[in-house]
Amino acid sequence: MSHRSTFHLNDLFPREIDIEVCLKTLKIYQKLEGDVNCVVWDASLVLAKYLEMMCHHKPDFLSGVRVLELGSGLGVVGLTAATLGAQVTLTDLPEALPLLRLNIAENKSKIVSMGGYAIAESLVWGDNNSEIKKQEFDMILLADCVYYEDAIDPLIETLQCLNNIITKKPTIYLTQELRDSDVQKKLWKTFYEKISEYFYIESIPEDQQHINYRSADIVLLKMTKK
Ligand SMILES: C[S@@+](CC[C@H](N)C(=O)[O-])C[C@H]1O[C@@H](n2cnc3c(N)ncnc32)[C@H](O)[C@@H]1O
Repeated sequence: MSHRSTFHLNDLFPREIDIEVCLKTLKIYQKLEGDVNCVVWDASLVLAKYLEMMCHHKPDFLSGVRVLELGSGLGVVGLTAATLGAQVTLTDLPEALPLLRLNIAENKSKIVSMGGYAIAESLVWGDNNSEIKKQEFDMILLADCVYYEDAIDPLIETLQCLNNIITKKPTIYLTQELRDSDVQKKLWKTFYEKISEYFYIESIPEDQQHINYRSADIVLLKMTKK
């Protein structure tokens, strides 16, 4: 399937993100202007750096691990996991894929040199026909994906569906920035109550996160299906 390219090279600017544990630097292109999938959000840095910290403590934490990322945006989390040796499928809405694929291509040699792999595919939350839902994954990652009401039920449905077809339940790591408006607070409360019904949830405290990439406003959850 081909998708309309949603960027011009002149409208992009790069951001470099060091992965110190393996001495690699990701180059991530962001858009000067655009929608939510055109910049790197802080919650993705918290999750990417948590993965890096885990690999520092346990070098094979991601080696060969089959990872699915939901709502990848520009791909910081998935590309970090791939550079740390994981086999990663990064996903987002179709319109986000051209820039996501550019970022994969830009970082491909670093990923391959570390034994990792990254590919981008469309996965619209709640789309029951997606081929991706038929695949098996060991780990699911998502950063800053809880921000509008209509997405909550489809997102939870996708998380459940990815868990239903497999024998070994994947571990889910989720980060979310808790924004200070009443609407966003209510959204997060609703999401949290709903996932609590279907998933065991462990909240990873700030002092167990990366020392330079953590925030009282960003939660990090580790979940498995009940
Ligand atoms: C706030 S951005 C976060 C992006 C990235 N994870 C980060 O933290 O930098 C939310 C992402 O979810 C994607 N998204 C929103 N609704 C979606 C849906 N229904 N299905 C799949 N992806 C969706 C957006 O395109 C966007 O990339």
